[in-house]
Amino acid sequence: MRKTIIAGNWKMYKTIAEGSELVNGLKRELIDLEAVDIVVCPPFTLLPLLSDMLTSSNISVGAQDCYWQEEGAFTGEVSCKMIKDSGAKYVIIGHSERRQFFGETNETVNKKIKAALKAGLLPIVCVGETLAEREKNKTFDVLSDHIKNGLADITAEEMEKITIAYEPVWAIGTGKTATPAQAQEAHKFIRDLLEKIFDKETAQETRIQYGGSVKPENTAELINQPDIDGALVGGASLKVDSFAAIVKKASEVTK
Ligand code: 13P
Repeated sequence: MRKTIIAGNWKMYKTIAEGSELVNGLKRELIDLEAVDIVVCPPFTLLPLLSDMLTSSNISVGAQDCYWQEEGAFTGEVSCKMIKDSGAKYVIIGHSERRQFFGETNETVNKKIKAALKAGLLPIVCVGETLAEREKNKTFDVLSDHIKNGLADITAEEMEKITIAYEPVWAIGTGKTATPAQAQEAHKFIRDLLEKIFDKETAQETRIQYGGSVKPENTAELINQPDIDGALVGGASLKVDSFAAIVKKASEVTK
């Protein structure tokens, strides 16, 4: 049984005061909810504070990126060891915005996954095609490339610690959600690929989240799909009402 996981990717939003307010609201709304794993991924500046605020709560904290070296002269970077030390449990790796704007490649994704695992963090690895790639019928090629190369040399045992997030780039921040059928097709493809790379059990146990314009209104129909095990939420994770509503909707889905 795969436990549903709903994560909020705050991207480059929220000051300390704004982030604390959001987390206090989420704690209030979601205090007793245990059916779903809940994660918030704020900017680095908020990691220690929010980790403290959420100690012994049902909400975990994650970073949005990491660097693969443990320490050194790498101005501007933050290591997995430092993220772990901040109290975070998860780290998003390979988000399409990092691939698009900051030169992230499957090779750097792979290094970051290994470093995150070594530091004891749980990676959320993002994969997904652009609109141009989808229109050229390249979706499955891109997913294969991201998964095979991003997860190169990862063992089945390590895979137990990894969540995959399928985020079609054309659905991110556009209000244009993939239909449940489109998302399910991609998730099934990813799960079948994981079975080929690892084994059936590993593939069945890996959680695959959908990301791209998830909102309270479309959460249930997405999570209802057999291979969709949660959501990675951008815009709608920035407000207490919408993020709490998404988590609650997801917790009501039984399949
Ligand atoms: P939106 O939910 O704003 O489309 O963002 C999705 C995303 O990129 C989550 O990582």
